Amino acid sequence: MKRVLLIVGGGIAAYKVCELIRLLRRSGIGVRCVLTDGGAQFVTPMTLAALSEAPVHTSLWDLKDEAEMGHIQLSREADLVVVAPATADLLARMAAGIADDLATTLLLATDKPVLAAPAMNVRMWLHPATRRNVDQLRADGVTVMTPDEGAMACGEYGPGRLPEPAAIADAIIAALNPDRRLAGRHILITAGPTHEPIDPVRYIANRSSGRQGFEIAAACAAMGARVTLVSGPVTLPTPPGVERIDVETAQEMADAVAAALPADVAVMVAAVADWRVEAAAGQKLKKGTMAPGLSLVPNPDILATLGHSPARPRLLIGFAAETERVVEHASAKRVAKGADWIVANDVSGDVMGGEANAVHIVTADGVETWPRASKVAVARQLAERIADAL
Ligand code: C5P
Repeated sequence: MKRVLLIVGGGIAAYKVCELIRLLRRSGIGVRCVLTDGGAQFVTPMTLAALSEAPVHTSLWDLKDEAEMGHIQLSREADLVVVAPATADLLARMAAGIADDLATTLLLATDKPVLAAPAMNVRMWLHPATRRNVDQLRADGVTVMTPDEGAMACGEYGPGRLPEPAAIADAIIAALNPDRRLAGRHILITAGPTHEPIDPVRYIANRSSGRQGFEIAAACAAMGARVTLVSGPVTLPTPPGVERIDVETAQEMADAVAAALPADVAVMVAAVADWRVEAAAGQKLKKGTMAPGLSLVPNPDILATLGHSPARPRLLIGFAAETERVVEHASAKRVAKGADWIVANDVSGDVMGGEANAVHIVTADGVETWPRASKVAVARQLAERIADAL
């Protein structure tokens, strides 16, 4: 039986952890709970003990606890440590390596993978200190889930809600059963927009956030692949285990892709600008009586170049952002660009820059329509689909 050590922090969302324990037990996963002092203000040890069918640990200084189940032993018997709700304070203490109670001592002493499901007020989540702590924890290899967005117990609205228990259970199950089928493969991914300069201060760009490409890079790396991520200008942290090459223009992206070959798989997610300004001005253009005309020339098509190159990866995947006749355009693009699959999405709604995505996978065999899901879930599903195809 797989075992989870569940650290319950002090937030109103602690009540949702009761449902999480029930879901995990139903999936045959053993759960042992550690309750922080703050957590004990919201749920009782009795509730957690009854649901987990195991004693609940609260204090570092409880001698009986130490004799029967020392803190090292608690983490030793677990396959995964889960922190839910991970409050701003818990994340801060984890990021700083502070060990001033049973929960944080365990987190510092464990050599097991750690998954944190944050929950806090929207301003606390968006505070630069929390941003730094989350970046640090991710760099340290902790999986920090993205909180849900919506109405909060404190009456505010925004990101900071604990992910739904079912989503946390899914993440736990995935973390407990690592799929390493992409080990030994080199996967080349492009992501983000490109910036095409008009003059030294102005450029042509698009609304791509890079999120979907970064999540695909993270999912492939988690499955053991060596991942090279060629990224346009974005404001995203590099996923753990991914080699990132930052570029600005389409031409730089094309050069970086060529330099990163050979690859077993290429996933071209970047929203590459189709045109660039033929001759970008060397100095800032001055406001005059007439608006300047821009003479545009086509950029290299990175996907199509790869599709028709002798160095073509064994599996070549393109993306197609469309606002109408999505599948029809994607099918034509697949053939024209020499790709194996096109992942097509309708970007007429809030997909670009948003959290969720609804995609169709267009292959030589037909079209699969995937249900609308988070970009994280789409990425994981695509990485699995890639592993199936190799
Ligand atoms: O033709 P369109 O831009 O819609 O095609 C989208 C697909 O082609 C994406 O996979 C994108 O990354 C890739 N592409 C490219 N180089 C370009 C334009 C698009 O690799 N210059």
